[in-house]
Amino acid sequence: MEKTFVMVKPDGVQRGVVGEIVNRFEKKGYKIVAAKMMQVSKDLAEEHYGQHKERPFFGELVDFITSSPVFAMVLEGENVISSARVMMGATNPADAAPGTIRGDFAVSIGMNIIHGSDSPESAEREIGLWFDKSELTDYEVAS
Ligand code: CMP
Repeated sequence: MEKTFVMVKPDGVQRGVVGEIVNRFEKKGYKIVAAKMMQVSKDLAEEHYGQHKERPFFGELVDFITSSPVFAMVLEGENVISSARVMMGATNPADAAPGTIRGDFAVSIGMNIIHGSDSPESAEREIGLWFDKSELTDYEVAS
């Protein structure tokens, strides 16, 4: 079954909307297979956002992600990689539709409240970067 990496960024944690965001994914039908609150190191932030290294906002992005704790999780389910991104809305909250997470909770592209893997390759890389294999649970959902 497909898995993806999702992180509630420092702005989401500080505003107290972690529960509401988790609730949306749970209600949709995705399974949380791993989750943790963590303070991100500069090394992890730079590696996670490595593809943006040359962008002018890279330093700002790393400073923001390391500024206070994030809530990181791994979600599992059918088409969860693309579907979780639809639920998040456009990267720039100004373009995110109402009803999406960014559309409802964020206004600025730098502080856009949540990150989700954008492809199967990114999901595999990011899950491996943020979680040890031993932290991923495996359980059946009762029906
Ligand atoms: P995210 O999905 O975490 O992946 C890369 C992040 O870079 C993105 O969300 C935005 O928060 C951030 N980002 C993209 N463009 C800009 C920008 N122009 N200025 C600041 N941050 C940006």
